[in-house]
Amino acid sequence: MHKNDLIALAREAQEYAYAPYSEFRVGAALLTKGGKTYTGANIENSSYGLSICAERVAVFRAVNDGCQDFAAICICASGEGFVYPCGACLQVLAEFSKDLTVIITDKNNQHKEYNLNEMLPQVFSLGK
Ligand code: THU
Repeated sequence: MHKNDLIALAREAQEYAYAPYSEFRVGAALLTKGGKTYTGANIENSSYGLSICAERVAVFRAVNDGCQDFAAICICASGEGFVYPCGACLQVLAEFSKDLTVIITDKNNQHKEYNLNEMLPQVFSLGK
């Protein structure tokens, strides 16, 4: 899949954000190594701490569908500048794919590309 198609999917996913509290809408599109895609959007709650990020929604949808091998994730958000995944989402992504391409965008769909390894060089693990 071309990078621009993944960006388009993440942008589309942003439409489904439920973000009445922050009004910060995030969409994510996850590409599996097998070529499937899963999208997610942030879902907030009046009990703020129960809110969940777009990236984790995408990962959980994929895992719940039997997919655990990821090649890339793209994040689109409202607001200025480039939006990076939060630390909690990096940890969740690292659980499944240490070698993941992370594409971040700004509102004009300009993008930057990283490897998850460089964004979260030290990952928590149980050391098993
Ligand atoms: N958010 C995401 O969806 N992904 C991130 O990586 C960081 C933050 C959401 C959570 C909340 O709904 C809103 O952005 C403001 O923090």
